[in-house]
Amino acid sequence: MPPTTPLLEIRGLHYSVAGRTLLDGVDLALPAGQSAAVTGPSGTGKSTLLNCVLGLIRCDSGEIRAAGRDLTRLNARRLARHRRDTMGMVFQFGELLPELTPVENVALAALLAGVKRDEAFGRARGLLTELGVPLEGTPTAELSGGERQRAAVARALVNRPALLLADEPTGSLDGTNREAVADLLFSLPGQWGCAVLVVTHDGSVAARADHRFALREGRLVDEAAEAAEAAQAARTARTLRGTR
Ligand SMILES: Nc1ncnc2c1ncn2[C@@H]1O[C@H](COP(=O)(O)OP(=O)(O)O)[C@@H](O)[C@H]1O
Ligand SMILES: [Mg+2]
Repeated sequence: MPPTTPLLEIRGLHYSVAGRTLLDGVDLALPAGQSAAVTGPSGTGKSTLLNCVLGLIRCDSGEIRAAGRDLTRLNARRLARHRRDTMGMVFQFGELLPELTPVENVALAALLAGVKRDEAFGRARGLLTELGVPLEGTPTAELSGGERQRAAVARALVNRPALLLADEPTGSLDGTNREAVADLLFSLPGQWGCAVLVVTHDGSVAARADHRFALREGRLVDEAAEAAEAAQAARTARTLRGTR
């Protein structure tokens, strides 16, 4: 794939549910090795957007290209395989199995993707060590909130996804852990070369992303570009007043 092709490209995405239009022409282009954050109050459709990218929700119209495939054209079986091979997902509450150790939880995701046992456990140990999560002996239920969320990131990375998606990944964490997990997520594009898309209602988490968007009335608004345009308009207005 040429470097200029976005790893994730969304065009004209529309989705309505229960008589309400949640996505009303969403456009987004995210290159490999970069991160984007989508913010917006609760109920605006952020999780719905991620679920469309995962292919768990079929959108009404529009195109979603992820890692070289148009998801809207794949049948269920191919979509599931493409998701498994190219995407990792982190949820707000980790979604790990509490009775397994962190290593087992992370290795399980690799085993389910067909990775051989030794390789799966090797990858799991390597990732958890790197992310500073205790390895054996402790059931996942006994980890701290921050450790659990780092284990969830390790699980999302174990199949080496080209695209990592995260839905309110710091929503259940306190201040220090929130900072640590946000730092970790936004370091991944530089470290692993994957594209990272995070949805969050936390502006301080979103501030770390390379690109920041607000989901507003069903569309993604580039807030930096909007602020620059407003500043330019104000400058023009001042100039006009000065020359009158
Ligand atoms: N399958 C569904 N049926 C009815 N309402 C839904 C469905 N899916 C989502 N919604 C509604 O759409 C809105 C947006 O949901 P969601 O994407 O979860 O928002 P966010 O993640 O931004 O909080 C919510 O009001 C939710 O209740
Ligand atoms: Mg949500």
